[in-house]
Amino acid sequence: MFDTTPIDDKPAARIDGLDLSQPLNPAVYPALRQALSNYPVLVFHGQNLDAGAFHDFTRGFGPLQEHVLHKYRHADFPGLSWLTNVAADGSVDEFGVRRATTWHSDGSYTADPPALGILHAYETPGSGGGTLFIDMGATFDRLEPALQTRLRELTGLHRHGAGPGGDMYDNSLADDQEENHRDVFHPAVTKHPDSGRDILYVNETHTHKFEGVSKADSVALVNDLIAQAVRPDAIYHHQWAPGDVLIWDERSTIHRGEGAYAPQERRIMLRAIVDRLT
Ligand code: SIN
Repeated sequence: MFDTTPIDDKPAARIDGLDLSQPLNPAVYPALRQALSNYPVLVFHGQNLDAGAFHDFTRGFGPLQEHVLHKYRHADFPGLSWLTNVAADGSVDEFGVRRATTWHSDGSYTADPPALGILHAYETPGSGGGTLFIDMGATFDRLEPALQTRLRELTGLHRHGAGPGGDMYDNSLADDQEENHRDVFHPAVTKHPDSGRDILYVNETHTHKFEGVSKADSVALVNDLIAQAVRPDAIYHHQWAPGDVLIWDERSTIHRGEGAYAPQERRIMLRAIVDRLT
């Protein structure tokens, strides 16, 4: 149906042989889901999808979530949103440059976090505008057994931008988005529903405390876990080119934008967040 080529020893694989702008054989979706169990980031090159085609493709995995940042939602497809550093008047969107550049999994601050993130690149900087990914199943496996045992007992508190790396999101939500100003609780170690792997479900952007642990010790633990996760050899660093599509498993990875490009260089992508797989 398609070719899957692992990318070095990274948690990512390149997929060839599919034109995502065309209606896909329905069997492709479960096959891609199976591929995600082995490689939590799937990379497609040379695609060309307008918003309608991107919506149709991504919607094939399941319902899409409307993005929490209202201003970036697509006018015609509320399940899609823009990841852009270009403001409506053509000037640099400074928040768009800084946004999402600390480690996170999308929607961990919701009670029922999403399944997949999907991005399609239209305009990309020459360098420094990549996206970095870490497999949190592999991260958990690498931790000291005593720490693994302790983490299995812990519940994390997540709130939008409340983690030690979340400062960039101060004042980014509307006051009436009450549901996103509350803590939600997730076990520090989750089980992936497809692979059955143990996953370290902690990120520095939204995880701000553990139940029964002081604030200071919680922050120290979040920082220590992220430091252990982001070993350079464990990172899949995607350097974008126009036409790329990336699908990643939100349940087993953390990611961040590299955020090291010249702000005047345009970086425009369309994103979908798949709420749950159907
Ligand atoms: C994201 O967090 O989904 C976007 C990361 C990026 O800007 O590369």
